[in-house]
Amino acid sequence: NAGVFTYDPGFTSTAACDSTITFIDGNKGELLHRGYPIDQLAGKSHYLEVCYLLLYGELPTAAQLEDFEHRVTHHTMLHEQMVNFFRGFRRDAHPMAIMVGVVGAMSAFYHDSTDINDPWQREVASIRLIAKMPTIAAWAFKYHIGQPFVYPRNDLDYASNFLRMCFSVPAEEYEVNPVLSRAMDRIFTLHADHEQNASTSTVRLASSSGANPFACIAAGIACLWGPAHGGANQACLEMLREIGTPDKIPEYIARAKDKNDPFRLMGFGHRVYKNFDPRATVMKQSADEVLELLGVENNPILATAKELEKQALADPYFSEKKLFPNVDFYSGIILEAMGFPTSMFTPIFALSRTVGWISQWKEQLGDPQMKIGRPRQLYLGETERDYTDIEDR
Ligand code: SDX
Repeated sequence: NAGVFTYDPGFTSTAACDSTITFIDGNKGELLHRGYPIDQLAGKSHYLEVCYLLLYGELPTAAQLEDFEHRVTHHTMLHEQMVNFFRGFRRDAHPMAIMVGVVGAMSAFYHDSTDINDPWQREVASIRLIAKMPTIAAWAFKYHIGQPFVYPRNDLDYASNFLRMCFSVPAEEYEVNPVLSRAMDRIFTLHADHEQNASTSTVRLASSSGANPFACIAAGIACLWGPAHGGANQACLEMLREIGTPDKIPEYIARAKDKNDPFRLMGFGHRVYKNFDPRATVMKQSADEVLELLGVENNPILATAKELEKQALADPYFSEKKLFPNVDFYSGIILEAMGFPTSMFTPIFALSRTVGWISQWKEQLGDPQMKIGRPRQLYLGETERDYTDIEDR
């Protein structure tokens, strides 16, 4: 753009896409899934019903929901041979590394039977991924902590099954706590889809080449792992722990405002929201409920988070730049109170977002006009020049 090349303003980036799944109004802080506000879905619906809505565009009838839940429930087991993939990792491998590897490996078990041009086989791959992701995430956790794998059960709902696979041990029966299951299910719902975020765009770009759905979802998991994206929930809790007590908050706010300091307030700010992230509002309410239920409502981390939010929102730097808490600000507090280590926060985000990735994957493949993605660049490099022999350099 230095006048050396004429920049063609007419070209349209192939990264843009049409979609009917999720709408975000960043200025109003609005998030709609197929037209339904997220706070209504989080309060009145449940994750598998939201999965149905995202996949098929309408809320299901009772019969449709029963059939969908039956299909998901009966695909939660992994091919037993896949256990070997977990065992190939070091015990201290981050569960996200295991999830990227194991989901990618699903290509070797299920891809051969997945003709992505056949809508029915796209449907089967979608159900398999939604059904098996909790088992993969739970087994990544169990492997990480050196405990035996717990197999899914068909008599439990989606969230209870996941919690049991994570926290049950052979030595004693695991009592499902319906309030914790509800809180877990709500966290799944709040993370289900979010328009063209970095990991969803990664899945769309990968699938535009015709790559199989398991490889595309593995690419989405890899992208989500970054601390600027889905890794922020882990980074946020680690930041709150580092801050420790509310008296240290001004020091960290000053650092976040210092352009020479790479420190950012984790769980704050967003590429799209220039108002409250509506998911953060629901998550904050859920944090109060879960911590009170667990008798840890006086959790110092929650107190620090609330004071940090209050001081940051009162600071002109954050208000002028329209920086508000996002979905990752409170989620880690709930997950830690439920017994998860910080390394499991992003795997739970990935588990939840699988339905968003796969819904957008299906939507893109269903478009007969789809072309391979090819984001454009603005070239700012050298103009043409001749090769110089090494002795002349
Ligand atoms: C997710 O896209 C999605 O939808 C993602 C997601 C989803 O559901 O898929 O919502 C999930 O990824 C949520 C975001 C999680 N990440 C974090 O919480 C990490 C901390 N946040 C920042 O890294 C940052 O806010 C980003 C990465 C999220 C956005 O960065 P941008 O695009 O730079 O934000 P911006 O353009 O609005 O920033 C405006 C200004 C900039 O300063 P100036 O260049 O104008 O001087 O605010 C600054 C930024 O440097 N800024 C921050 C800040 N976030 C932005 N300053 C301090 N602390 C922060 N957290």
